[in-house]
Amino acid sequence: MRVISTIKEMKSAVREVRGQGKSVGFVPTMGYLHNGHLTLMQEAKSKTDFVVVSIFVNPLQFGVGEDYEDYPRDLSRDSSLAESAGVDIIFAPTVREMYPKGYATFVEVEKLTGVLCGKSRPGHFKGVTTVVTKLFNIVEPDIAFFGQKDAQQSIVLKKMVEDLNMNLKIEIVPIVREKDGLAMSSRNSYLNSEERRAALALSQSLEMVRELIASGERNNLVLVDEIRKFISREPLARIDYVEILSVPDLEKTEFLQGSNLIALAVFIGNTRLIDNMVLEG
Ligand code: PAF
Repeated sequence: MRVISTIKEMKSAVREVRGQGKSVGFVPTMGYLHNGHLTLMQEAKSKTDFVVVSIFVNPLQFGVGEDYEDYPRDLSRDSSLAESAGVDIIFAPTVREMYPKGYATFVEVEKLTGVLCGKSRPGHFKGVTTVVTKLFNIVEPDIAFFGQKDAQQSIVLKKMVEDLNMNLKIEIVPIVREKDGLAMSSRNSYLNSEERRAALALSQSLEMVRELIASGERNNLVLVDEIRKFISREPLARIDYVEILSVPDLEKTEFLQGSNLIALAVFIGNTRLIDNMVLEG
């Protein structure tokens, strides 16, 4: 496995692989890899001939006062994990390499980014779509793999690829959970043991609402209210949002109908966690 840090070298490595007629799979990450990322890599390995993983904590997608500085980073740990997952190249550029002095170009998907995390974190998705566009141009993958945990990100990126006629496919891989249900996230490393326990409120509230839906409840106001009540029982939890929106338009609906996304963002102490469940129509 090679670790590459320059765009020039990355482009020439991919050109060589393409010259051999191989397909390229790509897993963009911000590092501090966990089993959720490793599942994306396995998926990429099973569907393409050559797998590139990017590790880049993208400053553009963090707002003022968010955790850009504190975001966990450990390239040597990530390299051994990626190598054991059979990854061919890690692309780990510096901030200067990605955004040289005078950088001035941004990519923005409208409407879909005005709700959920886009509303709570203004500018976040502009940072995501800009960096992902750059990464796609550098790596030129046939298929890029993203996790369903970032449900809105997946929807936004699919829209971007469609609207800008980008020459690749996006595959979304189901959420990987810890044994007790907590959705895997690099940010789980911020939680102390009391917060780790409290964080179960997210996945447990989704389980609770799944049962409510199975018993026939279809009114979104009622479902959202039940989730809010469930999470509010946990003293360490502070709800950012609980929403039920249509998929893929991310619009508010009165009743469950067609495909729906139930999405949560909750602060556990100072750590903001997200989780979701998609109900297929
Ligand atoms: O999902 C993430 O880790 C990031 O948002 C991504 C897609 C790597 C862009 O920085």
